[in-house]
Amino acid sequence: MKLHVIVLAAGKGSRMKSNIPKVLHPIAGQPMLHRVLATANTLAPAQIKLVLGHGREIIEQSLTDANSTNVVIQEEQLGTGHAVSLALDNIPDDSISLVLYGDVPLISKQTLQTCVEAARQQGLGVVTAKVADPAELGRILRNDQGSIEAIVEYKDATDEQRMIDEINSGILAAPTSLLRGWLSDLKTDNTQGEYYLTDVIAMSVADQVPVTGIVAKDETEVLGINDRIQLAQAERIYQRQQAHALMQAGVTFADPERVDVRGQLHCGTDCFIDVNTVFIGEVTLGDNVVVASGSVVEDSVIGDSVTIAPNTVVEGAMVGDHCNLGPFARIRPGSTFAEGVKVGNFVETKKVELGPGVKASHLTYLGDASIGRETNIGAGTVTCNYDGVDKHRTVIGDDAFIGTNSTLVAPVEIGNRAFVAAGSTVTSKVDDEALAVGRARQRVIKKWISPTRRKQPSD
Ligand code: UD1
Ligand code: CA
Repeated sequence: MKLHVIVLAAGKGSRMKSNIPKVLHPIAGQPMLHRVLATANTLAPAQIKLVLGHGREIIEQSLTDANSTNVVIQEEQLGTGHAVSLALDNIPDDSISLVLYGDVPLISKQTLQTCVEAARQQGLGVVTAKVADPAELGRILRNDQGSIEAIVEYKDATDEQRMIDEINSGILAAPTSLLRGWLSDLKTDNTQGEYYLTDVIAMSVADQVPVTGIVAKDETEVLGINDRIQLAQAERIYQRQQAHALMQAGVTFADPERVDVRGQLHCGTDCFIDVNTVFIGEVTLGDNVVVASGSVVEDSVIGDSVTIAPNTVVEGAMVGDHCNLGPFARIRPGSTFAEGVKVGNFVETKKVELGPGVKASHLTYLGDASIGRETNIGAGTVTCNYDGVDKHRTVIGDDAFIGTNSTLVAPVEIGNRAFVAAGSTVTSKVDDEALAVGRARQRVIKKWISPTRRKQPSD
């Protein structure tokens, strides 16, 4: 039987106190709803139906082809049961329906698979968790034999029921035909006057359809996000999980609680990652890479034995083996470094190819340039790549020496083993092995009296 997934996300999320719909608040850089959809997609469902209400335009705009869904609009939020019944329209009877919540983002594929399996056995699967603080979540009622009998909402629960520490995650799966039947019988005779999806558990028991409680391995899996405190908790839990997985794969963190991975981080062996580092998008580190504190690495491939010194920002770069970057360097998109490149403090690069062993150690801007092997770029060198309208390239050969404080006005070429004298402005081609001196000759004016000394003190 085919699987159909229903994701509930019509609620307002008022406790977020936000202009952004709750389900678009990110966890590790990705909207929580997109995480739920990605997990749902790993189950290869026939379709995903997404129930939207509040903020639906913004939510729909956020969806791409990768996480496309069939949107169902719930104009009025009459309850979770009402939301699911709307979504069941056009879902064939001979299928399994799995209900997920857009604000329960850390649920795992394994737990969902077990839940769906219970439904495939012609039963009802409901994901629960034993929690330290059950707060205002729905409580799972079990009989003396330990079988689930019903779910009672906190607001409807007796004091005794509120003592129960097994809670309802909200996630459930059932054969669609049964679910449809139960939902049509829902009443609103409860404290909130809503159609509670949770009432189907007692109906299932009454119909002698077996109910399987899938107790999540870890209570954090079913953490629902209602406010920014829970959002921050979910973020930390998720980050800790990623750091632990990386440590198990052979990465050392100075402190696994002080690193953020917002995307995919792939590491070779024996990398060392210091505190307060952030990895965004797809980042690959080779073996023996050191990323020092305060550095941010985004969508980049870093070779073996590279050191990224403190407070360095690397974005969209390909960095060869044995390079040294930073401290305080800014490597921008399109930077491609061969092995052994050194890019030091206050150096900015963009769309540059640096050959093996190129050194730009201090205070430099290299943009739209290609620089040959072993060339040394002196402190304060600037490629003037922009004339106000177009960008132009600077091409420098191998073993060249660009003196301190040189201004290279692109388009311009500097040959192999060429030498640019310190302080030069280079506007035309410098041949191989030539010396370019592009500055005014120094004059020395003797016995010069400065204006301050020239002025007589008034009496
Ligand atoms: C629900 C469960 C509760 C469970 C808790 C887990 C019910 C009646 N209660 O309570 O047992 O412990 O989740 O987090 O189901 N939504 C809609 N349309 C609606 C109402 C809700 O789409 O008409 C969506 C919300 O956007 C949200 C989800 O359903 O994503 C849950 O709704 P919420 O109001 O947060 O339910 P809880 O009171 O938390
Ligand atoms: Ca909730």
